[in-house]
Parts: sequence; structure tokens; C-alpha cells
Amino acid sequence: MAQRQAIEVKRLDELFAAEPDRLSRLTFETAGIYFDWSKTHLDQEIFEQFRARAETAGFAAARDALFAGAIVNASEGRAATHVAERGNGSPEEVALAASRRQRMRALIDAIEAGAFGDVTGVLHIGIGGSVLGPGLLVDALGRRSAKLEVRFLSNIDGTAFDSSVARLDPATTLVVVASKTFTTLETLANMEAALDWLRAAGIADPQGRVIAVTAAPEKALEAGVDETRILPFGEGVGGRYSLWSAVGVSAALALGWEAFEELLEGAAEMDRHFRFAEPAANVPLIAAFADRLYAEQLGCQTRGVFPYDERLRLLVPYLQQLEMESNGKSVTAGGKPVQTATAPVTWGGVGTDAQHAVFQLLHQGTMLVPVEFVAVREGDDEQDQEHHRLLLLNVFAQGAALMQGRTSDDPQRCEAGNRPSATILLERLDPRSLGALIAFYEHRTFANAVLLGVNPFDQFGVELGKDIARKLAEGEEIDALDASTRALIERAGV
Ligand code: F6P
Repeated sequence: MAQRQAIEVKRLDELFAAEPDRLSRLTFETAGIYFDWSKTHLDQEIFEQFRARAETAGFAAARDALFAGAIVNASEGRAATHVAERGNGSPEEVALAASRRQRMRALIDAIEAGAFGDVTGVLHIGIGGSVLGPGLLVDALGRRSAKLEVRFLSNIDGTAFDSSVARLDPATTLVVVASKTFTTLETLANMEAALDWLRAAGIADPQGRVIAVTAAPEKALEAGVDETRILPFGEGVGGRYSLWSAVGVSAALALGWEAFEELLEGAAEMDRHFRFAEPAANVPLIAAFADRLYAEQLGCQTRGVFPYDERLRLLVPYLQQLEMESNGKSVTAGGKPVQTATAPVTWGGVGTDAQHAVFQLLHQGTMLVPVEFVAVREGDDEQDQEHHRLLLLNVFAQGAALMQGRTSDDPQRCEAGNRPSATILLERLDPRSLGALIAFYEHRTFANAVLLGVNPFDQFGVELGKDIARKLAEGEEIDALDASTRALIERAGV
């Protein structure tokens, strides 16, 4: 793979010594979140090179196109309308999103008014973008005050089904089936299993307990869901960008409508920042510059994300889909091979647990891993404040250690240092800040895509494996199925 022209990178300690204004240039406060990119290798010169590259790549026009509701997903001939869900797209899309949101709200009001009898739980069925977002929201924000129990079910594995329903009472549970296409094998199979589960518990009208969330309402109708219980969302809302739409209904039920609206407002604030801030102050764009620097120039094939907050433990799987499904591509939007490394592998874990498991490699391994820490200044636990203070001091210590390194006469104890990290510090974790944080990641992913020239809104790479599985399940002949796979199928007897 051809590399772009090499960029000269200075050591982090040299950068701090040489640039007295480094902290003010590379730390930002927006939407109540503090972003510190000063411990990355970006300097003024590198920034200028990327700024010029963004200009050549047509960044401003691409961003305008996104917010104007133009067709930015060329391979599928669609706009990407997730920003309209929070009021920031074309007027037509914003109005459409608002009317669909009204429909969602009316259904929630009806549920709360008792239209479905006593409801104590929701079984939310969906996979990928149809579950990761709401799962993150409920786990992050609903620990202390959820209005009802929401269990998320995605995997086709029956064990996942068993544990998802274990704490739910079928008599008072609603089943939310979220699927953009309403054709996803896992989701439809789990819906059938949920109907069986309700039936087996003696529920008279199991179908009457199902709410479908989809961009293909006709498919939900075919599957037997009554029109009054279908919550549609737009074709332009990609699965991994869909938590703002009716896909968030389970989260809205658990957290309350006001919280859901605050989530949208937080995201809208980040939208405005991304849309209007100059490049030198535009956090998603600057983060994308650093991403490109590490992936393309310093050969980093991964990026580690470590929330130092138990409430954000599902952020990593959420980002894995957002970033890898969006930008894990090999050809440009125009169909030409990309000339550089695209999305790195996003991985990570929760601090301080990860610190005691995988950080050895980050400090002394031969691979360079740009690290991202996410922390929250205010805790929300019932323990002594000292817990949270120690948590925060640990995350800051790790960033310092990665950069500083350590000299020693004993080579085993040497740490080279000069290892980059970025830190995101939320004032508090609430719907507004979480909305802004997620929107930050969306826009950073988009900015990376523009710099790369790839389309972040399609995902054709997921099709082949699904197609082979479907053919095998239907007993169709598969041309040239390899010997290894045939032997595995035979051995498993499936
Ligand atoms: O296979 C990947 C994918 O298409 C994701 O992009 C999507 O979020 C997920 O499957 C679920 O799709 P659906 O919402 O249509 O069920």
C-alpha cells in the first residue's frame, strides 16, 4: 500500500518544551466537555499540512453536503440524515424527523398511561446499530433511575436469549424489535423466540406486545406487527447512526422523554460546533488529523479507547461499530483503491481494570498504540468520594506515564515514553453530555472519511458472510465451498 509523503514527527516532550502555547492550542472546551489533544504528536506544522489536505479533499463542501441533506452516501444514493434527528439537517428532513419523533412520543405516552397494562420491562431485540446505541444509553444513564428494566438481545445464540429474558416477567414485558431493514436473520429469529416465550407464559395476544422500529414498515407489517405499533425512521439514518431516531425508544422509555430530548440537544450542540468552528478549533476535525497521522504515518494499526468510568463501559463496542464499519474500507467513494491505511482497529477496555491487564503492552510493547482516555469529573456512586478521586488520578497518571516514560539501568524497567494519548473529560455524565460525546465521535468518523475519500455510510463488506450463511441454512449449493469449511460443517453436523 503506497504511503503518503512522510511527515516529520517530534518527540512529545520536545513539543511541550518548544511550544509554550501548546496547551491552549490543543485543548478545547465544547458542549461541556474538555478535550485534551496536547499529548498527541500534532504540532503547528503537521496541523497546517492536514488543514491543507482537508481543503484539497473538499472537507467544507462535504460537511455542508451532510448538513444540507445532500446525497453523501453515493453508493446507496442516499443522504445521511442522522443530524436531522437532532434538528440540524435540511428543513424537510428535520420536519420529517420531528413528526416521527412525535409518533414515538405518543406511543410512549400511551404506554405510560397504561394502554398496554402494567409494563415493568422491555426486551429490546436488534443487532449492530439497532442495539449498541440504546444499550449504551441505558447502561450509562439508567443505572440509578431507570423507569423500567430494559434487557437487550442481539446474538442468535440461544444462551443470549435465555439470559436476556431471565429477569423479565412476560406478563408485564413489551418487546421492541429494532431493525432498519426488518430482514436481519438474528433479529427475526429472536422476535419469533420472544413470541414463543410470551405464548408459553399464557399471554393471550403476544403480537400485541410487540413494537417494531424500522425504516421498512411494510416488512414489519408482513411480519404481523400492527401499523399502530410500528415506529418508522428514515432510510437516510444509517444503523450505526440511529440511536437518535425511534431506535432509541427503549432508552427513552427507561430514561424518560425529557432525558431523550436532552440527549438530542447535546448532540445538536456538537453538530453546531462541528459545522461552524474554524479548523484550528474544530475538535472532531483535529481528532481526525491525529487519527490520520497515527494510522498513515506512524503505522498504528489500532487505537485504544479506555473510559475510566464504569458507566461508559459500552462505549468501546459502540465505537467499534461506528468507526470500523464506517471507515474500514479499501476503495474510495469513487471506487479507486485508497492509497493509505484507513480505519485502525478500535479496541479498549474500562479503567482501571484494563490498566492491570493490557497496559503493559501500551507502555513497553513494540507496537505504538494511540490511546484515548474518557473520564467524568463528577462521580455518581454511593461510595466515599475517594473512589472517584483515585479513579481520576489513575487516568491522568497513565497519560503522564505514557508520555514521560522512564529511564533505568535495567532494560526490563525502561519505558521509552513518547507514547501519545488524548483525554476527554466530561464535567458530568448526563443525557446532554453523552449526546455531545457520541456526536463528537460521529463527526470525527465523518472527518476521517473525508480525508480518506471513502464513503462512511455504506457497509457492503458485511454482505458476503451473511449470504453464505443464508445459503447454507437454506440448504443451497454453494459453488466452490472450500475443503476446510466443508469439513467443519460436517464435523459439527449442521
Ligand atoms: O451487518 C451489519 C448491519 O447491516 C449493520 O450495519 C446494522 O446496524 C446491523 O446489521 C443491523 O441491521 P438492521 O438494523 O437492518 O437489522
